[in-house]
Amino acid sequence: MRNRNTDLGFDSRHSRRHFLKLAGYGTLGLMAAGLWPGFDGFAAGQTPDTEFIPDLDITLSARPGEVPVLPGDPTLIWRYHATVHKGDRTRIAEIPRSYLGPIIKVHQGEKIRIRFRNAIPEESIVHWHGLHVPAIMDGHPRYVVPQGQSYLYEFEVKNRAGTYWYHPHPHGRTGPQVYRGLAGLFLVSDEEEQAVGLPDGEYDVPLVIQDRTFDSGNQLVYMSGHRMERMTGFLGDMIMVNGLPDFTLPVSTAAYRLRLLNGSNSRIYKLAWEDGRPLTIIGTDGGLLERPVFRRYVFLSPGERLEIWADFSDNPVGYTTSLLSLPFDVGGMGGGRMGRGMMMGGRTGQNLNLPNGVAFSVFKVKVAQPVKTDYRLPDTLSEIGPVRPDDAANFFRPRQFYLTMRHMQWTINGRVFQMEEVADDEIVQLGSTEIWEFNNTGGGMMNMMNMPHPIHLHGKQFRVIERSGVAHEGYVDEGWKDTVLLMPGERIKILVDFDDYPGMFLYHCHNLEHEDMGMMRNYFVRE
Ligand code: C2O
Ligand code: CU
Repeated sequence: MRNRNTDLGFDSRHSRRHFLKLAGYGTLGLMAAGLWPGFDGFAAGQTPDTEFIPDLDITLSARPGEVPVLPGDPTLIWRYHATVHKGDRTRIAEIPRSYLGPIIKVHQGEKIRIRFRNAIPEESIVHWHGLHVPAIMDGHPRYVVPQGQSYLYEFEVKNRAGTYWYHPHPHGRTGPQVYRGLAGLFLVSDEEEQAVGLPDGEYDVPLVIQDRTFDSGNQLVYMSGHRMERMTGFLGDMIMVNGLPDFTLPVSTAAYRLRLLNGSNSRIYKLAWEDGRPLTIIGTDGGLLERPVFRRYVFLSPGERLEIWADFSDNPVGYTTSLLSLPFDVGGMGGGRMGRGMMMGGRTGQNLNLPNGVAFSVFKVKVAQPVKTDYRLPDTLSEIGPVRPDDAANFFRPRQFYLTMRHMQWTINGRVFQMEEVADDEIVQLGSTEIWEFNNTGGGMMNMMNMPHPIHLHGKQFRVIERSGVAHEGYVDEGWKDTVLLMPGERIKILVDFDDYPGMFLYHCHNLEHEDMGMMRNYFVRE
């Protein structure tokens, strides 16, 4: 058990402490393990911490299954399932007929134990996207477990109320595993949010947007593996909502809180209402905004979340509208003119049926019944605090990250992912506040090799303090974010506070094919 510490690599100081502490309870843990049905031991000598008293204790397993997605044969998928050992069963909401995992609902401050069981025929690990957790609880690919093994997560929920999610994170295989169905929502509530009195129960609707391609036997088709196709990212030709095709949301004449997650591998949506009403945004990745903002359209890139207020109380029963994705230009390689023509020569890479940036309906809304509710859009939603860029130690010299293509490979500062590697300029001091600048401006001849990149930081929520080179207005940079879209030509500065949790975390492009190809790096928080 102790030997395992040596291959924990870079952040062994922090991990060792944790593992040694666990080791102390080894025997006890194993005994207790025998009492837990279906438990067959955790990775790296992990045993549950007997001093950790969870409010919610679940087993989350990833396993093969099948669901009836289209008429005819069922579709073979991989899916997360949950069983509750301790805590209220209503915290786990399975989505009927979907390949998506259960929605896990927790409250800020609660202690959560999740025993991940990997029952798919390849290595996997779970990442809690957007959650602020210690490094060894974050699902770094170095912690992957093989089929038949488990990984133990124990953490306290520190985040604000918001719409977070979980998905696999094995290096090189995140795209295909998410595509097969491994993903689920993780909703956090807190007192501040509950005091606002937003629509809840049936008026609080999570909507996970993804794209998939099926063959004539109703089976999922991923990609050819062709390098060009991987460089643009996978695009499916059917839009799925909560795992269902041709989705219609039946509503009553009431106001709704719609929680949107883009769970697609690489497709970007430019969302707008068909009937011309503005999008009323009340929350982003890290929870509620200070006050609602209104946009004609909004981009939602892979990994991002948006919470929108949608009020149908003035619409008659029978009324229908759609949430659309409007056409947009994605730059050189993203599937625009250049993409379809010269770069791709129509050979592949592109989904010719439904390229990135064409118009389509994401889902329909149909007003199905009258109801009397009295939800009104609040003027104030939450207190998110001022952004103070001058708190940053590197205010005059932001850390720079260039998103570029090198040797037919997407890179960050010319580098690709190495499991244990951290460069000097990727080490930050615990307790510091920094400005990080991401730059998607390509340059010169390489302009046609530009693509949008949604950049995600693990472990932290951050604030966007500046966006330049902007050719679009569809951003909501006001709130807390963990994933931020950079269209070609754009540059963005974010403010991050490394207030706690030392160790190694990831930052990467959330286009999952870019990520799998190595457009991902470690950053290390030094104590
Ligand atoms: Cu949602 Cu590292 O990812
Ligand atoms: Cu990318």
